[in-house]
Parts: sequence; structure tokens; C-alpha cells
Amino acid sequence: MTNPRFLNKVCVVTGAAQGIGRGVALALAQEGARLVLADFSELVHEVANEVRMEGMECIVVQSDLETYAGATELAHACHSAFDRCDVLVNNVGGTIWAKPYQHYEEDEIEKEVRRSLFPTLWCCRAFLPSMIDRKKGSIVNLSSIATRGIHRVPYSASKGGVNALTASLAFEHAEDGIRVNAVATGGTEAPPRKIPRNPKPLSDQEKVWYQGIVDQTIQSSWMHRYGSIDEQVRAILFLASEEASYITGTVLPVGGGDQG
Ligand SMILES: NC(=O)c1ccc[n+]([C@@H]2O[C@H](COP(=O)([O-])OP(=O)(O)OC[C@H]3O[C@@H](n4cnc5c(N)ncnc54)[C@H](O)[C@@H]3O)[C@@H](O)[C@H]2O)c1
Repeated sequence: MTNPRFLNKVCVVTGAAQGIGRGVALALAQEGARLVLADFSELVHEVANEVRMEGMECIVVQSDLETYAGATELAHACHSAFDRCDVLVNNVGGTIWAKPYQHYEEDEIEKEVRRSLFPTLWCCRAFLPSMIDRKKGSIVNLSSIATRGIHRVPYSASKGGVNALTASLAFEHAEDGIRVNAVATGGTEAPPRKIPRNPKPLSDQEKVWYQGIVDQTIQSSWMHRYGSIDEQVRAILFLASEEASYITGTVLPVGGGDQG
């Protein structure tokens, strides 16, 4: 272990079964963390096994974090197993549909907000009391450069909400020793998703709208490329760690110059 910034820290990662969440979990394990991995997919158990192969302790909570009951179940399991939470990474989210706003149905708008704002709101609420009691805690929320982006307005609005809750919660609880930051993730290359955000195959029109997102994301990045999972993970771990001890309420864009 070359740089164990998280030695014996209890770290919770939501949405850990794939993508950025899985990358964060494995990187934390490599730096000595004891992990609580949460996801509604059973595939999270595979990531837990990878963590254990690193020699680190890990528990899994399979719950739906779009509900407050799911978030409190997670907090309860974490505190029962480890007595505390040092780091909470709120990673659940992601746009379900890609289309111009006039084509969204009412229930689709609600589902987007439930997916990309509520899990962060619920988990912050569920873990906050114990962090206040201990006068210690670090929260990193996954936002997005899509707060200025096309073809995903409800998702963009949800991530704008994540930015606002990050700043307000940080302000309210700085004197309790709790830091709250966010990473505004840019377009990120990832292997094909085993857990699709939208299980329905895309129509030809939806493929065109989705390509619109890809083109706009590359154009808006000064580097004109997607980032890697590892480039996101490094920023998330920095904000989560004591290296960022004087940083709170910040949204760090990680999008090759795209500020979101
Ligand atoms: N991938 C990108 O290009 C990109 C860009 C900007 C922002 N982000 C943000 O980064 C985060 C991770 O993105 P990703 O691409 O790795 O996501 P992903 O869709 O690949 O994975 C999300 C994970 O969350 C889990 N999940 C979804 N809903 C859940 C629920 N209700 N309860 C519990 N678990 C649930 C899924 O099972 C999955 O394991 C998201 O917040 C996303 O908005 C991603």
C-alpha cells in the first residue's frame, strides 16, 4: 500500500456495482478502507468479493436508495457493523432517458429526479446525525457537467439540486467537523453497463438524441474527449481524504475544462 489515505476508515459507496462507484470502491480498498457497498443490484456482491481479494473488510447492503427506508437501512447496517461512517460517497444517479425536454412524460421526469437527486438527499439525511455526534465526516456527492447540457433536462436539474445541497449542507455543518463536496463528472468512458439505466432498447430517434449528448459533451470539453473512470476516481478520493481538509462546499468539475 503506497499511499494509504483511508487506512481503517469506514467508507460507504452507493451505486457500487459498476462504473464509477465500483472504481471508487476498489480504489478505497487499495488505500486501506473498510467498506460498505450499497446497490439495488445483486452484482454488488461481485465487487465486494474483489474488495475482499484486496484483503479488506467489506459488507454489502442491497437496497433501493430512491427511498428513505433504503437509505436508513444502509446507515443502520453501516453503524451496526462498524459503529461509524468516516466517508460517504453518494454515487447513485445517471440519466435514464436522452431526449429534448418536450418529449419527456410526467412520470419520466419524476423518475429522473428520484434517480439522480433523492438518493443523495436521503443518504445525507440518514448519515448526518452520527457524523454530527462524532464531529467528523466527509461526504462526496456525484454531480455532473450536465447542469449545462442538452437532452437531459430533468437529470440536469437533479444534479443542480445536488450542487445546491452540497453547498448548503457544507455551510450548515462545517462547525460540526463535516465536509461536503461534489465532483461534477464529465463524460466518462466505461465498459458496457451490465445494469442498464433504461432496459428498453433505444429507437432510431432515441439513438440520434443520445448521440446529441455525446457530441455536445465532447465539444464542451476543452480537451475534446471523454475522461476515464480512473480520472473521476482520483478527484473523488482527493475530496474524500484529509488532503482536502480545508475544502468544503465545493463542486469540482472533472470534465477536461467543461465547468458544467
Ligand atoms: N458515466 C458518466 O459519463 C457520468 C457523467 C456525469 C456524471 N455521472 C454521474 O456519476 C455517477 C455514476 O455514474 P455511472 O455512469 O458509473 O453510473 P451507472 O449507471 O453505470 O451505475 C449506477 C449504479 O447505481 C446503481 N443504482 C441505480 N439506482 C439505484 C437505486 N435506486 N438504489 C441503489 N442503487 C442504484 C446501479 O445498479 C449501478 O450499479 C452518477 O451519479 C452519474 O450521474 C456519470
